[in-house]
Amino acid sequence: MNDVDILVTAPLPPFLYDPLRADYRTHDYVAAKEPQQLLDAKGGTVRGLVQGGGTAAPPKLLDALPKLEIISVFGVGYDGVPVDYCRERGIKVTNTPDVLTDDVADVAVALILMTGRGFVRANRFVHGGEWLKRSAALTTKLGGRLVGIVGLGRIGKAIARRVEAMQMRVAYTGRTPRDVPYRYFADIASLAAEVDFLVIACPGGPATRHLVDERVLAALGAKGTLINIARGSIVDEVALVRALTDGTIKGAGLDVFEDEPNVPPALLALDNVVLLPHVGSATRETRGAMGDLCKANLDQWFDRRSVLTLIPELA
Ligand code: 8YV
Repeated sequence: MNDVDILVTAPLPPFLYDPLRADYRTHDYVAAKEPQQLLDAKGGTVRGLVQGGGTAAPPKLLDALPKLEIISVFGVGYDGVPVDYCRERGIKVTNTPDVLTDDVADVAVALILMTGRGFVRANRFVHGGEWLKRSAALTTKLGGRLVGIVGLGRIGKAIARRVEAMQMRVAYTGRTPRDVPYRYFADIASLAAEVDFLVIACPGGPATRHLVDERVLAALGAKGTLINIARGSIVDEVALVRALTDGTIKGAGLDVFEDEPNVPPALLALDNVVLLPHVGSATRETRGAMGDLCKANLDQWFDRRSVLTLIPELA
């Protein structure tokens, strides 16, 4: 064990927590009965912080950690981290890119298949004995349909490759056009107006909060299905429930929600949605690789004063 104090602000799996405990003095902020007392007692010595992808690290908490050198995020998203604040204080922020790209892209494709081809409904149809009474309803062919990807980063590109292999067409929006053979739209509403599936794959955080609002959903229209594997905060969930209920859009496939694990009861009651419990990266292999990378960033920082995967804003 080395002489470094680490604050843990999210529930961590044992395959990450056990090695962390073996090598560092860890302080569990989530499990603490009196978190403020923990901060008062240990905040002054904490040099590293480990948190989950969506976990918030408010400046007020970070102010209580004057010796903090690094935040190692167990996840690719770091929307809960105040990046400008960390830059000013010289705090390094690392995340776990690449290792989860394929799994998350798989989930986006699964949601396209489950919503577009009605596989969840079809599964219920067989389980419920309905097949003995009648044939299943016909659905719509996916080949030839247009998939609009919001955010053509690593995950967005991996989704594009997959749906291309299914003979679907790809278009995208993002801050700038990229050197890719897909049609670019400068704004999300114009993209939504054209596509059959609008797939959200951009980062969360203040810049994209409620990017998918009533106007974008109206543009997506009755031909369109919303797929979200990124962050719940990007979609105005109240507007989404309304659009799904009154037929403004065709359906939705969601792996993320605004207030996880609370899913609005109105969504639970709808038949034109497929809902997953934020499982984009949830395979043993990928979560293991994320845990290894999360710890490796800390180890490298405290051993050699460098990190493996610094977030781009601080590079
Ligand atoms: C994880 C995620 O569920 O990587 C992310 O940003 O949202 C997910 O892969 C989460 O980070 C685990 O803490």
